[in-house]
Amino acid sequence: MCGIVGAVGHEQCSEVILDALKRLEYRGYDSSGIVTINDGAIALKRAVGKLANLDKALRASPLIGDVGIGHTRWATHGGVSTENAHPHVAADRVAIVHNGIIENHRTIRRRLEAVGHKFFSDTDSEVLAHLFVEALDAGLDPAAATRRVLAEIDGAYAFAMMSIDHPDMLIVARNASPLALGIGDAACYIGSDAIALSHLTRKVVYLEDHDYALVRADGVSVYQADGTPVNREAVMVAASPGLVDKGGYRHYMEKEIHEQPDAIAHSLAAMTDESGRLTAKMSDDELRSINGIVMVAAGTSHYATQIARYWIEALAGVPVACEVASEYHYRQPVTAPYDTAIAISQSGESLDTMMAMRHAAKSGLKTIGLVNVADSTIAREADTVLPTRAGPEIGVASTKAFTAQLTVLLCFAVALARAKGQIDIARAETIHAEIQGLPRLVGKALGLFDAIRPVAHQLSQAKSALYLGRGALYPLALEGALKLKELSYIHAEGFASGEMKHGPIALIEDGLPVVALLAADTVMTKASSNLREASARGGKIILLCEARATDEVDYASAVVTVPDVDPLLAPILLAIPAQILAYLTAVEKGTDVDQPRNLAKSVTVE
Ligand code: G6P
Repeated sequence: MCGIVGAVGHEQCSEVILDALKRLEYRGYDSSGIVTINDGAIALKRAVGKLANLDKALRASPLIGDVGIGHTRWATHGGVSTENAHPHVAADRVAIVHNGIIENHRTIRRRLEAVGHKFFSDTDSEVLAHLFVEALDAGLDPAAATRRVLAEIDGAYAFAMMSIDHPDMLIVARNASPLALGIGDAACYIGSDAIALSHLTRKVVYLEDHDYALVRADGVSVYQADGTPVNREAVMVAASPGLVDKGGYRHYMEKEIHEQPDAIAHSLAAMTDESGRLTAKMSDDELRSINGIVMVAAGTSHYATQIARYWIEALAGVPVACEVASEYHYRQPVTAPYDTAIAISQSGESLDTMMAMRHAAKSGLKTIGLVNVADSTIAREADTVLPTRAGPEIGVASTKAFTAQLTVLLCFAVALARAKGQIDIARAETIHAEIQGLPRLVGKALGLFDAIRPVAHQLSQAKSALYLGRGALYPLALEGALKLKELSYIHAEGFASGEMKHGPIALIEDGLPVVALLAADTVMTKASSNLREASARGGKIILLCEARATDEVDYASAVVTVPDVDPLLAPILLAIPAQILAYLTAVEKGTDVDQPRNLAKSVTVE
């Protein structure tokens, strides 16, 4: 999703901005641009496509200046074109970059056009530049101009503005979209996240919603919407590898699939207390007071919640609802049966998930944020944080964050069940030992690339595929189908195996690939019967299963096995071949694996 960066007081400003934009590439974008102030005039470069195109344009004619802003755009309003790429400039005086959506942009644009403002793009964002021109023309100082602009706009935003009238500063503001200010020695920076600034500084100030700030080379002044100065403390963010490289792998996704043993081990370590017991980062009393949980999340994180529901209900006896975050708060849900909300998000910045968590908090629920980015907005706003320690995930399609989320959720389920007296110490320790063995088993499953390659080759020829699972493997079927469609653009749907006969079986025709997930759990024989029904109608069964479940199925056209594991952990282990299958199919098809079309890593608009 759109990324914002900026620098003031740095001589090679456009170079550090380009580096920072590269660090935000993982968020997904379709065009980019940088603007600086050189000799009292605005200097602008924009390009459609990858940052390499902007880089080329900058090499051909560099942008000089020590103040500038840059942007990677993920199109929302207006198609992908140079004119719609940010920064947007108005009256040759003001330049802006924006992440989010200005919901009342049409009304504002009509008003401004009526008084002679000339617009150059189809974006909602451009109104910001014109509103600033209007406010500066009215003789307002930068802070007063900002207040006037903020008072007129509705929606979610993080934006940065610079003007030749005040060439020594950037003006920034945020509401619901992320924004970090970086404090350097003789320069200050802005970025959509701290990773963007990791090559420049680790000292970061996070704006809160409705804050605005004047950013100068020697420091930042932060204000609340009404103009009251406010002290937002600078924090030292953990040293980040910043621009993570592919480590010799062909794609970030391939690397991240291989990082799962570590991601799981580190996440488990984060959920283990000093005495070696699984913890949920809460006292036993706090855990005992949890009587109902609503989990809110989007995309892959949402499927993690659906798997966790099986664990929390079965182990701890606590009712769980799993909600798609974008639907949750607009539905005006009855929250009374639940006292706790868990917001699950790799980035900790998905706007839908953040809004859902806020809605839950407003309704009086205690909030838990389960995030991979420790200093993200969800982490900062939640009452309690459960961390995944997967490390930066760059591939847009989530892999290691997903299995790390599952690990943490299983640890949480065990700690909750223990505190509530639903399982005894021996059972908790057995599950703990099983989780400790998981990195090794996942490591073994990573040896499946060669076995899966021919299956992926076949699958890459298909127009459509079904994914089936039963019990806790049903949500994994949904996740497997999502992985295949988002990476390879092959239409894929996941179903509960037992639901097939109620409709989806009509889709089965000769040769239709059916990816079946099977574990030696309590529903194995029933799931196997469902698969047989699909096979009998011509479905080509691709079986992803535990070794000991293979005997259940003698009609599969391909069998991929993972080592035997406690049935509780089967969804985590079977995620590995499902990811590898989607990855290799996409490689066969030659799609953009790390940045699939139309997708963004961190979705910061509703
Ligand atoms: C986007 C990404 C998905 C991700 C979802 C939720 O749609 O493309 O891969 O699962 O956001 O992201 P989050 O950071 O909240 O887990």
